[in-house]
Amino acid sequence: MRVLDLGCGTGQAPKHFRLPEKCEVHGIDLDQQSLEQARINYPNAMIALVAARNSPYDNGFFDQVIANVSLPYMNIPKTLREVHRVLKPSGTVIFALHPPSFTWSELKKTRRLRPLVYRAFVILNGIYFHVTGRVLDLFGKAESFQTERGIKIAMQRTGFSEIGFERNGPRCIVRGSAYAANIETSVLCYNVPCPSINEPIPFVIMPKKCRKRTPRSHRRSD
Ligand SMILES: C[S@@+](CC[C@H](N)C(=O)[O-])C[C@H]1O[C@@H](n2cnc3c(N)ncnc32)[C@H](O)[C@@H]1O
Repeated sequence: MRVLDLGCGTGQAPKHFRLPEKCEVHGIDLDQQSLEQARINYPNAMIALVAARNSPYDNGFFDQVIANVSLPYMNIPKTLREVHRVLKPSGTVIFALHPPSFTWSELKKTRRLRPLVYRAFVILNGIYFHVTGRVLDLFGKAESFQTERGIKIAMQRTGFSEIGFERNGPRCIVRGSAYAANIETSVLCYNVPCPSINEPIPFVIMPKKCRKRTPRSHRRSD
């Protein structure tokens, strides 16, 4: 199984999420120092200095994307789009997030004005995220706290499905699948001669919204 550890830091996430030893782990982060430590801690992992929103991987390259409390520091909607792109259609995600209580406790610890203003921004951003599933990105800072409602909206909007939550102490864990089960599809079979046993049956899958409606004038008026 090929796994992307998003914002891997020193590389603790595979251990936190109890990934099987055999996984091929790729870790990306923006912090050079943490990455050097990750290379020492996990010599078998492939580590790269790359921004989460802009990864160099091909579409559908990974079976799973994990992020241990790194998503809260990112522009979540943009990062989710990138995560969805690099995942196989059968791919899954596990994210550990910051619940509101984490940001509140950070605020209470803060004494100086500038960090206080920043924490206030994070709280406002968390509220905005809760309501809209989007974040404000000011000068590259998009930190927020996450609620189940907010992350669910953001993930569903990106095309994730099977979204589930669990609590692990102070951490909120969300799981999801890249499979877009929420897109309503219908199968239209054309009236074609019966194919021989090995031939695939021709069919077209169309989103329901795209189905042609019968014009009013052509409808039966009984
Ligand atoms: C709280 S640390 C968590 C590190 C690691 N996941 C762990 O479990 O120890 C958050 C990490 O996210 C990284 N990060 C923040 N924004 C990022 C971005 N846009 N792209 C890649 N990494 C990012 C930071 O450099 C930091 O290492």
